[in-house]
Amino acid sequence: MSRVLVVKTLNEITAAQFAALRALKVSEHQEVLGKSFLESITDWEDAPKDEVLGLCFLLGGEPVGLTLFKRPMKSLPQVVSIHGLKIATPWQGQGLGHLAFRLAVDHLINAWPEAAILKLAVDAENASALAMYRAFGMTDSGPVFEGPNGSEHRMEISLTR
Ligand SMILES: CC(C)(COP(=O)(O)OP(=O)(O)OC[C@H]1O[C@@H](n2cnc3c(N)ncnc32)[C@H](O)[C@@H]1OP(=O)(O)O)[C@@H](O)C(=O)NCCC(=O)NCCS
Repeated sequence: MSRVLVVKTLNEITAAQFAALRALKVSEHQEVLGKSFLESITDWEDAPKDEVLGLCFLLGGEPVGLTLFKRPMKSLPQVVSIHGLKIATPWQGQGLGHLAFRLAVDHLINAWPEAAILKLAVDAENASALAMYRAFGMTDSGPVFEGPNGSEHRMEISLTR
């Protein structure tokens, strides 16, 4: 891949990039597993601003994906969860998911230096997401449990080095 993937916050991207991001799609089944682009953007807009970090992935200036990090400020601000990391359909299967997750975690560590643990829940059938998280070093933090879409893994990784 010749173009470089970069990450920016949702606050930093231009209005045109934001409009292009809102128009991106994953498959209907993937929307069930990880929400649609519009649903994730609405989650970001609705969350308290000190509890959410919304990131956009851009390839040659063109949005190709997004993710959200969330932290509960009132209880455990050092525990952060990642939500709805997605790469739009035309760009999937090219290694961008792996790259985007690494870029997002690097950005998180700089933006929220007090973050110590990253957690997530992922459907057991979501093979590409599981491969992405495991390749980074995330491990199951407990037994597989029954979530709204069937079996789910809870995973976590320490961010302190
Ligand atoms: C999960 C997601 C971000 C991965 O993005 P991607 O750019 O396709 O990922 P990559 O190309 O980096 O590949 C990641 C892994 O998925 C696998 N993969 C990618 N596309 C695949 C496909 N169509 N079928 C099977 N496996 C696939 C790759 O083989 C790779 O695993 P490997 O490195 O062990 O071979 C993307 O599938 C997506 O947006 N899904 C919908 C949203 C979602 O479910 N997010 C996770 C919420 S927890």
